Amino acid sequence: MTDRTVIVTGAASAAGLGFATARMIAAEGARVYLTDLDGGEVEKRAAELREAGHVATGLTQDVTEEAGWTALVERVLADTGRIDGLVNNAGIAVLRMTAELTHESWDKQIAVNMTSVYLGCRAALPTMQAQGAGSIVNLSSVAGLVGIPACTAYAASKGGVRLYSKALAMEVAASNIRVNSVHPGVIWTDMQKVALADNPDGYDAINASIPMKRMGEPDDIANMVAFLLSDRAKYVTGGEFVVDGGLTAQ
Ligand SMILES: NC(=O)c1ccc[n+]([C@@H]2O[C@H](COP(=O)([O-])OP(=O)(O)OC[C@H]3O[C@@H](n4cnc5c(N)ncnc54)[C@H](O)[C@@H]3O)[C@@H](O)[C@H]2O)c1
Repeated sequence: MTDRTVIVTGAASAAGLGFATARMIAAEGARVYLTDLDGGEVEKRAAELREAGHVATGLTQDVTEEAGWTALVERVLADTGRIDGLVNNAGIAVLRMTAELTHESWDKQIAVNMTSVYLGCRAALPTMQAQGAGSIVNLSSVAGLVGIPACTAYAASKGGVRLYSKALAMEVAASNIRVNSVHPGVIWTDMQKVALADNPDGYDAINASIPMKRMGEPDDIANMVAFLLSDRAKYVTGGEFVVDGGLTAQ
């Protein structure tokens, strides 16, 4: 990853998948732009990486805002002149049965998890096309592959990310730009802590339901994203990469 410029969205949480990815690729030599709605926290994460001797910048961004994407790309190009990788990781989980799901929360779920991916890809592609290379990794979920109750809006957003990624991969493959989706199972991050807040027995029940009998760690996902960003994946595009301890193989 030496001298590669990579943007990772949703990277403010110290225990999250975005920061785990940013930390891993920064250690491999990438210049990393960490962005998040929470600008104070994301700058702290970037500072931690700089203190470890890496090249990292933290920036405030709402991934649903088109103008913010334009500003981000301008900033990254002014600094480094390149965008080699984009990791669309920012996300929220609206976990409600359809009967209890408001139109407003449906729209928010789709905007943050799916429309943001389109906006990010559209913003980064002209630079990647001019370079004749680039790798985009979009965070989907096992909920984008199989039906999970109380998960309809989240599933729709993540299923959309899965097929958006494949269709875009077809549009840009001849330009040597690769687009893949990653499908985490249950990974112990703030997102899961919030989801389980009202269900203290859920932790053990989830672990029991996973063939490997444990939730995943953020680095399990970061390893897959780092591989897809790297030249070791130079012939890999349009793929969907499940990292779930066997959950969806049952
Ligand atoms: N943790 C899991 O088990 C799991 C499983 C499957 C998929 N995923 C997906 O992986 C990604 C990362 O998940 P995580 O568990 O690290 O989540 P997390 O909640 O720990 O982190 C998500 C980050 O996204 C940021 N964010 C939310 N809305 C934003 C917006 N509009 N603009 C910019 N940033 C915004 C949040 O501030 C937060 O820092 C998400 O897309 C999630 O859906 C996670």
